Amino acid sequence: MNIKNLDLQFLKSKTVVITGSSRGIGHSIAKKLLDLGNIVIGTSREIKSLDSLSRKFNRNFYPMELNLESSESVESLASLISNDFDKIDVLICNAGVLGDLNYIENYNYQTWCKTMTVNLNNQFLLIQKLLPFIQKSKKGSIIITSSSVGQKPRENWGAYSISKYAMEGVSSILSAELKDKNIIVNTVNPGGTATSMRRDAMPKEDSSKLPQPSDVLPIFLYLSSNEAHETGQSFNARDYIGLLNF
Ligand SMILES: NC(=O)c1ccc[n+]([C@@H]2O[C@H](COP(=O)([O-])OP(=O)(O)OC[C@H]3O[C@@H](n4cnc5c(N)ncnc54)[C@H](OP(=O)(O)O)[C@@H]3O)[C@@H](O)[C@H]2O)c1
Repeated sequence: MNIKNLDLQFLKSKTVVITGSSRGIGHSIAKKLLDLGNIVIGTSREIKSLDSLSRKFNRNFYPMELNLESSESVESLASLISNDFDKIDVLICNAGVLGDLNYIENYNYQTWCKTMTVNLNNQFLLIQKLLPFIQKSKKGSIIITSSSVGQKPRENWGAYSISKYAMEGVSSILSAELKDKNIIVNTVNPGGTATSMRRDAMPKEDSSKLPQPSDVLPIFLYLSSNEAHETGQSFNARDYIGLLNF
């Protein structure tokens, strides 16, 4: 991998779906890919939360509603995309929820189900529904946003940790199943990043000492580009901070 030599001028004109583009890491990826001249379909549960991107990038940004608690919402997003686009080059499964931080013996069942639905079951459905359009790309990439507690499950992180661990499995299986197609599938662990999810998880932490969402972009940009051929791998965004000039 030669991420340092990635020429961002060539990362343009791609059609990219980014779930959870209203804030945090997804918003930052969307903004950068739009700045570079790509077409971005960005989602939120509340379309108004995407207004700032819609105003700034009114030609290339397509705001769409998605609530990963609902399989109907996933199917309706896939159907809207199929009406408006011939193909998708990059799918970034970024949206997610934290659930509770609690020991399994105390974990609330409803919170467990919701976290697994949003972070795992409907991620699977979204990937499955969009796969036919990614297969139409000359160079497809699926990027799954994971976590360090997904790479190695950790006590007290409950359904969040287990859902991310399972998504590492989805990535591993899917990359193997698509090995003869022109689609790469990888996970990215952003590492602790100053967002609202991180504040909820670590309320006492000084977030000014953490990387900002824009700092963790390089590996997401690399995996979105034509340069990336790695598949079935788990990347840590922190290893690539500062390697790209943008
Ligand atoms: N920040 C970190 O330190 C860190 C570390 C490791 C992994 N991650 C992972 O990185 C990804 C982005 O996290 P973040 O820190 O940027 O979080 P964030 O600031 O809380 O943003 C989460 C995004 O997910 C969307 N979302 C939440 N619930 C949803 C639902 N039910 N259906 C559809 N979309 C939903 C939100 O959109 P709306 O509310 O507008 O719908 C929002 O855009 C997540 O997968 C997270 O697990 C983050």
